[in-house]
Amino acid sequence: MTERSSKTGTSSALGCLYGIGVGPGDPELLTLKALKALQRAPVICVPQAADRPESYALSIVKDYVKPEQEILRAPFPTDDAEGAAQVWREASEMVVERLKKGQDVAFITEGDPMLFSTFSYVLAGVRELCPEAPVEIIPGVSSVMAAAASSGIPLATHGQRLAILPAAYGLDDLSEATSNFDTVVLMKVSPNIVKTLADLQELGLTGQSTYVRRATTDREKVIRDLNEITDEDLDYFSLLIVKGKAKKRQAKERTK
Ligand SMILES: C[S@@+](CC[C@H](N)C(=O)[O-])C[C@H]1O[C@@H](n2cnc3c(N)ncnc32)[C@H](O)[C@@H]1O
Repeated sequence: MTERSSKTGTSSALGCLYGIGVGPGDPELLTLKALKALQRAPVICVPQAADRPESYALSIVKDYVKPEQEILRAPFPTDDAEGAAQVWREASEMVVERLKKGQDVAFITEGDPMLFSTFSYVLAGVRELCPEAPVEIIPGVSSVMAAAASSGIPLATHGQRLAILPAAYGLDDLSEATSNFDTVVLMKVSPNIVKTLADLQELGLTGQSTYVRRATTDREKVIRDLNEITDEDLDYFSLLIVKGKAKKRQAKERTK
């Protein structure tokens, strides 16, 4: 989405908020558009989970950031929704302050900014506080696409269905999703990995599931036999690609 053109209209004094997807980890997967916008902006806003030592998004682009660029950090708690909401309010206020000074702000986010991204919260806050501020969203290579490429597993081919689920899934959700979709991608899998692996086993899906850790980085690991996952392989930046039973269901329906 581009609302950048409004900058040339009534809101010409305002800076532009850029939501920039910086990709899954390999800096070479940054788009040219992302790189140019990042390097032009005098201010870079960086989301950072408070329980992690550094921002993953910033670590991806660190070689492209110039010393004169201001870094606005937004350290958000991962286990406290109210605390996180407060951080996003404050971050939105800091961003709007810069926009009102005519400065462009680049909000960087791992993967794509429109998929499970903290950018959504700041975008909502900025729209509320300063609806006339121009916004440009630059898509990034999502971890979903990166994991498919790293594992060589096509996510969907002709007529197939793909589902992407966040962390909160249980046996029933998994059973339903894998019955209705040909491929199910389970994101934010690490906090629930033990339960999820047990659920996949119970559903008879272990043999058709692949674990991908830190796709496109030098710590990338693709595990095709889930029984081989060890504690060392566990990482927040990991996901599971599960081939569902939709095909079997469709074939059964056709023979009815
Ligand atoms: C908050 S979501 C962000 C998703 C991101 N906006 C995207 O488009 O990929 C974080 C989750 O994305 C997945 N993820 C992010 N980077 C990854 C990578 N390099 N390899 C595997 N999974 C990754 C993990 O499931 C992680 O828990």
